[in-house]
Amino acid sequence: MNNFIFKYPVRQYFGKGCTESALKEEMKQAGRNVLLAYGGGSLKRTGLYDKFAGWLHECGKNVIDFGGIMPNSTYAKVQEGAQLVRECGIDFILAVGGGSVIDCCKVVSAQAGLDEDIWEMQYTKHRFPTKFVPMGAVVTASGTGAEQNNGAVITHTEKKLKQPLVGAYHNFAILDSDLTKTLPMAQVVSGAFDTLSHCMETYMGKPQSDNLSDELNETVMRNVIRNLRVLIADPGNDFARGELMWDSALAENSLLKLGKQTDFQCHMLEHAVGAYTDCNHGRALAVIHPTLYRHLLGEGKAKLARMAERVWGVKGDTPEQTAVRGIDALEDFIKEIGLPTRWSELGITDENVLRAAADSCLLMPGCCKQFSRDELFEILKERL
Ligand code: NZQ
Ligand code: ZN
Repeated sequence: MNNFIFKYPVRQYFGKGCTESALKEEMKQAGRNVLLAYGGGSLKRTGLYDKFAGWLHECGKNVIDFGGIMPNSTYAKVQEGAQLVRECGIDFILAVGGGSVIDCCKVVSAQAGLDEDIWEMQYTKHRFPTKFVPMGAVVTASGTGAEQNNGAVITHTEKKLKQPLVGAYHNFAILDSDLTKTLPMAQVVSGAFDTLSHCMETYMGKPQSDNLSDELNETVMRNVIRNLRVLIADPGNDFARGELMWDSALAENSLLKLGKQTDFQCHMLEHAVGAYTDCNHGRALAVIHPTLYRHLLGEGKAKLARMAERVWGVKGDTPEQTAVRGIDALEDFIKEIGLPTRWSELGITDENVLRAAADSCLLMPGCCKQFSRDELFEILKERL
């Protein structure tokens, strides 16, 4: 393994039905004015909004609403939130939602204390925020692991970019499987595949030699695959729902990434397509992954073969054949769980969009192959 320093700031509350007590415990340390941040409508529809507002009032807080955070949250929405934080003297941000709400709030927390535009600051001046409005996350859609880290993925609509920004770590994360029960199964599957993707992107990074992080990772990948199958067959299975939530957390809380560089080239391609199409994150990853891995059969053969044997339980006569069987198993799984394998299933039919995505996509140094933009375009185009 490479050398590393491991420091982790997020308190975790895990468990079915833990939300009320966890929130009330955490609110003892929070200031009076709380920004309650949520998405486009599910929180009110499911009755959760009233519960959260009620619990916050019981804790003596003033509740200020920041709703309407859209999937693939935008930079404009970040600015709206930052303005609200300044105007209302917000002491604490409570993000209740999936990755989009949580990511938006991480950057709101940083932007609120800055006089400059945080996008320009990070991408032009290469400086990163150091002061944040304190915040906490309650997960209602698991998969991204966004509550675990300080990286946010934000869509800058005008620039046609969907890219990472460094934001705040949450003081705490609440992982209560009960809150995810109203999530449509298609989004449960998309989220769980995102977790599997995070594991694969970490596993395939450099160095590709065996290490403890990768062995832990294999366990998490097998756990995602098993529990997603269980949950699809039995949506009432709280145990499987909880396991998937913790898988999602483990994939993004740094543990599996220790001592290695991650890959995440597939993610950067998805983000680039997302900037042009606003597509669903997990579903688009499913379209890209198998094709991208077939393009890694040279440089990544040994690691793909190891994943084939240890995660998918398949083997061929040669390492190459084993690697190919593993990618086939991944694609079969994608079909089995009802995820798309072609862009048209996401309503994307324009080759020019894929060309623009390949041309604007971030190139990742941790990927075992340094792709040209033309090859990235080929990868995307193969699924038109
Ligand atoms: O907006 P509402 O009405 O709340 O509906 C949401 C949304 O439409 C709905 N939903 C959430 N919880 C629900 C619910 N519906 C019913 N019941 C509930 N309990 O689910 C839909 C999707 O929500 P969203 O937050 O967009 O999904 P997800 O959690 O997959 O987040 C996706 C975003 O996270 C970014 C993605 O790029 C994308 O922008 N990611 C963030 C990462 C990170 N920070 O570490 C890593 C990931 O790789 C990813 O890039
Ligand atoms: Zn992801």
